[in-house]
Amino acid sequence: MSSDHHDFSPAERAGLYRAIFERRDVRSQFLPDPVPEDVLARLLQAAHHAPSVGFMQPWDFLLIESRDTRRAVKALFDGANDRAARHYAGERGERYRRLKLEGILDSPLNLCITCDRNRGGPHVLGRDSMFDTDLFSTCLAVQNLWLAARAEGLGVGWVSIVDPDALAGVLALPAGVYPLAYLCLGYVSEFLPEPELAAAGWRQRLPLTGLLRGDTWHTEAPEAVLQAVAGLSPQDASR
Ligand SMILES: Cc1cc2nc3c(=O)[nH]c(=O)nc-3n(C[C@H](O)[C@H](O)[C@H](O)COP(=O)(O)O)c2cc1C
Repeated sequence: MSSDHHDFSPAERAGLYRAIFERRDVRSQFLPDPVPEDVLARLLQAAHHAPSVGFMQPWDFLLIESRDTRRAVKALFDGANDRAARHYAGERGERYRRLKLEGILDSPLNLCITCDRNRGGPHVLGRDSMFDTDLFSTCLAVQNLWLAARAEGLGVGWVSIVDPDALAGVLALPAGVYPLAYLCLGYVSEFLPEPELAAAGWRQRLPLTGLLRGDTWHTEAPEAVLQAVAGLSPQDASR
């Protein structure tokens, strides 16, 4: 039952939080099964309903099925990943090279969500002080799609280890259109219970209480909030 605070019913809330907590970045578990058009349409519509600065809607969605195009993107990834690996020495370097960081050819569909930096003309409402709010808006479209995909049982993996100019070239993007998110999409054998990087021992989730502050960076967060957060489990959040 909803209360008069306009909140969702407990079951609806539980569904939303479940999508949030069980969403994963997927690289290793893709199945080849095609994504039905009606499901894909719902994901794209969810993305298109993201908030955007000045209602700019700077996104376009490239649906990339061609294996030739995907092979070209995979080659860009391989080069960029080799360069990235050089940042890590010794055991950390070996561990980095063992990580699987893309599912470009394993997933049945790739999707590039772009940001047209000129959409809406030179003065978009709300963008005067923070010019990059068009990029932020496009990230929110990605997140909408990612959560909707989880609810539909589809995995999404974000591949950012590619040179954006080279990627724009492969995808024939016009000048001023930025390839913000290159995504791999498909059904999966499983959703891992924790981020793949955490499972691989690369990096763990930070405790939320350590990230809360008060009125300024140097002020402590209210004690009651700290206690409430410390008492949460992800499941509790849906109650
Ligand atoms: C902007 C952005 C770029 C990312 N780029 C990559 C990438 O290139 N390769 C990869 O394997 N994962 C990439 N990820 C996924 C993150 O590694 C992942 O979100 C994080 O480890 C937490 O795991 P989770 O998404 O399963 O909760 C990216 C995520 C974001 C938000």
